[in-house]
Amino acid sequence: MAASDSARVLITAALPYANGPIHIGHLAGAYLPADLYARYQRLQGRDVAFICGSDEMGVAILMRSLKEDTTPREIVDRYHPQIKEAFDRFGMSFDHYGRTTSDVHRETSQDFFRALAAKDTFTLTAEEQLYDPEAEMFLADRFVRGTCPVCGYEEAYGDQCEKCGSSLSPKELINPRSALTDATPEFRETTHWYLPLGELQPKLEAWIDAREDWKPNVMGQVKSWLTEGLRDRAITRDVPWGVPVPPDVAEAAGVAAEGKVIYVWFDAPIGYISATKEWAQAQGTPDAWKTYWQQDDTHLVHFIGKDNIVFHCLMFPAMLMEHGDYVLPAQVPANEFLNLEGRKLSTSRGWAVWLHEYLDDFPPDLLRYALATTLPETKDADFSWTDFQTRVNSELADVLGNFVNRTLTFTHRFFDGEVPPLQQVTAEEQAVLDALAAAPARIGDAYDSYRMREAIFETMQVARLGNKFFNDSEPWHTRKTDPQRAANTLHLCLQLCAALGVWLDPVMPHRAARLRAMLRLTDVRTSAPDAPASDRGWTAAGQPLLPEGHAIGEAEILFSKLEDDTINAQIENLRTRAAEMEESTDTPTPDTPSPEAPYAPPKDQITYDDFVKLDLRVGTVTTAEPVPKADKLLRLEVDLGYEERQVVAGIAEHMTPEEITGRKVVVVANLQPRTLFGLESQGMVLMSEDRDGTLNVLAAKGENGAVVL
Ligand code: MF3
Ligand code: ZN
Repeated sequence: MAASDSARVLITAALPYANGPIHIGHLAGAYLPADLYARYQRLQGRDVAFICGSDEMGVAILMRSLKEDTTPREIVDRYHPQIKEAFDRFGMSFDHYGRTTSDVHRETSQDFFRALAAKDTFTLTAEEQLYDPEAEMFLADRFVRGTCPVCGYEEAYGDQCEKCGSSLSPKELINPRSALTDATPEFRETTHWYLPLGELQPKLEAWIDAREDWKPNVMGQVKSWLTEGLRDRAITRDVPWGVPVPPDVAEAAGVAAEGKVIYVWFDAPIGYISATKEWAQAQGTPDAWKTYWQQDDTHLVHFIGKDNIVFHCLMFPAMLMEHGDYVLPAQVPANEFLNLEGRKLSTSRGWAVWLHEYLDDFPPDLLRYALATTLPETKDADFSWTDFQTRVNSELADVLGNFVNRTLTFTHRFFDGEVPPLQQVTAEEQAVLDALAAAPARIGDAYDSYRMREAIFETMQVARLGNKFFNDSEPWHTRKTDPQRAANTLHLCLQLCAALGVWLDPVMPHRAARLRAMLRLTDVRTSAPDAPASDRGWTAAGQPLLPEGHAIGEAEILFSKLEDDTINAQIENLRTRAAEMEESTDTPTPDTPSPEAPYAPPKDQITYDDFVKLDLRVGTVTTAEPVPKADKLLRLEVDLGYEERQVVAGIAEHMTPEEITGRKVVVVANLQPRTLFGLESQGMVLMSEDRDGTLNVLAAKGENGAVVL
């Protein structure tokens, strides 16, 4: 079902964590496509509520505050206004931008929790959890680090391994340690509420199966979660920051409410609802939020990046279903990731373009356009500064700006700055009128189907068509040889400019407004949230908007070209920043090798018989210690089940003895022994070496002595 068949469109964009500024990856993933869509829907005259806000609860924010020796409140009070302001300057047209520390949000989340508790949706489980005796705190999610049981990455978090992407629970980490104090955690018993996703899976599956028009990248991920089987999720935490578990619910369950909060991924999506409530209140129609959230003829769309898919396609829908009073999302058009200059974006490595910094140097619309044409809609995409420059110079300046400029200046020079009459229309001229009339449906269909890149491309096609028509018609000749032709040419080009003043409004709201001002085009709909109503909107712009004799305003340059120096300065800045961060970080972070680094060349083929000569075995490292005078070596003792081995490994620069002790590894057990620094090495431990030289121990599973084949 499309938005056009619905009474109203409720659009949400993922609530950004208020613990850091917004960068282009966020914009390309969720915010820009959401804004394009919302603005387009408003131009169509549809009833739109576009909702966002800051995600201010959760362990990530608590963690950040502990690291900076401040309070979570101080962190969110610092970043919420910064994010809100940057969004505003970028032209995000939210109807409301809320925050999850608000009273309305606390009450709304608690009511939601209470409603599900009353329906007996939750299960309550008492279990042993990791506890930091030094910090006197349970170690939820990111508070614990350790070795990933899947890939062996040593800096995995308790909720996720950032290297391999596996979703984890703290107890699964090998060699867990407190991220707060580095202490080795102990086990203590605690009770938590769970959302029984396992039990809810059949209902979710039936609903998902009926989502015929969802994007393949979204469906792919959702189906794979379902195939794996959904695991019940704890939706409460023992941490001192979050929405408190409603005391009445805790009491009824016989659990001490003290110190228990709702899990951030439970409360954050409810933030969409609470922000809608706040918006309705501000409008003076406090109940209006119900129309959007609770009436079946609402078209609900969640714009998110791909890392949020499971929460928006499975967990939040499960919550909404169980509650029963709410609409479910019609569409979750999640985008893939945006890379920067061929490398994965990384805030910790300084490899990002920050929105507030960009806005200090350039106008918002240039980035909006450049990003809109490169959105990672179906696969990861890349942003580069030179591509940005090309978009601006050869598309915005050379095509769009040039078309507008020559049309307006010609009109001033030869037609007194007035729209000339259109008479005796030729076949070529009729073709332009036809193209104009067909454009709104074609561009609109792309927007309605969440193909934003295509929508922007098709919009620019109107300017391309205009330029070509201007060239082919040669009004600089015909104004002397056939004046009516020249009049028709300019009449039509002015109509195309006027239509662009409407159709460019979603992608470049500031420049589109300037274009309309130059044309003195008033009384058309605009995409701003509080724009006055007008009958002349998206579709009306397919018919000539400017009457004959209409006086246009001064022609100004709409887009100037960006110099190489300007662009090089940005690239330079990015590289310097990344290099500085590289020096200042001592802990290795997961790395994407630079694109220049070559892969090791493939080796010669071997036969199967060659392969089976290797005796590969699972073993556990029982001891690890430095080798005196050999900086690169560690002496390991490995238990192979049937015997103990001593292995001397060249890994001391890559990991500490503590980090490898206790790990299950793969050992080449029939390698001829050799002596290194006086020690006999009786085998080899398998590792992978990244292109940048990082060594990773290959994690093994199975009993000691198990044969690896
Ligand atoms: N804060 C989360 C993130 O940045 C997104 C939250 S979306 C919501 O990944 F639905 F939970 F609000
Ligand atoms: Zn991993």
